[in-house]
Amino acid sequence: MKTLAIIGGSGLTHLRNLTVRERRVMRTPYGEPSAPMLYGLVSDHEVIFLPRHGHGHTIPPHSVNYQANMWALKECGVSHVVAVNAVGAINTELAPGTLVMPDQIIDYTYGRAHTFFGSHPEPVTHVDFTHPYCEALREVLRDGAARAGLTLVPKGTYAATQGPRFETAAEILKFERDGADIVGMTGMPEAALARELGLCYASLSVVANYAAGKSEEEIDLRAIGRYLETGMAKVRTLLEHAIPRLHAV
Ligand code: HPA
Repeated sequence: MKTLAIIGGSGLTHLRNLTVRERRVMRTPYGEPSAPMLYGLVSDHEVIFLPRHGHGHTIPPHSVNYQANMWALKECGVSHVVAVNAVGAINTELAPGTLVMPDQIIDYTYGRAHTFFGSHPEPVTHVDFTHPYCEALREVLRDGAARAGLTLVPKGTYAATQGPRFETAAEILKFERDGADIVGMTGMPEAALARELGLCYASLSVVANYAAGKSEEEIDLRAIGRYLETGMAKVRTLLEHAIPRLHAV
């Protein structure tokens, strides 16, 4: 049995096509997740929705309890996770509004609780993270995009930054030299924690702006809001088409 969770990011604190049937408040050994789990139906299939920044969007990226979120999802029997992330484009071919499904990550975050194997008396465990996202789920999402008639850029390297401030132009140039295409504040440690728990995890990243120094203009929060709105509408449509596929394969 597959159970899918969707972790909503900025711009996706509510899943409008979700018919909510149940709310479940969870507690974990790591504390409380960002919000109660919402159980509902998308395209007639049960999904669990968790808004990463809380229902009222009050938790900044560096304060999200990623451990509690992923632990709670595992406790709920989740097997697959689609993480939705807002990002800036380092690669200027990725115009605002574009949907990207990254295939690689570089982690520049610090001071976040980034492992379940850090402070407990279990033996040290090193997980393989060569390919940080789950290929089976990526395939389903690619297929969902094609069925929905949506363009989805099928790969790219996600630079995870600490936030909550945006980057300097020099930081973006460094990330670019490192090989990153997009930059966001929430991709890590979420993906690594998912891997430690054996969850099949993929990201749908919505480009909200050109990263610092990549356009003439300064980063404009109102424009970001507009691009997130159109981008998240695409994410919802993609999910409606992908979810039946996930259960069919
Ligand atoms: N940088 C980091 N995170 C982001 C950005 C950005 O430019 N846009 C949306 N999330």
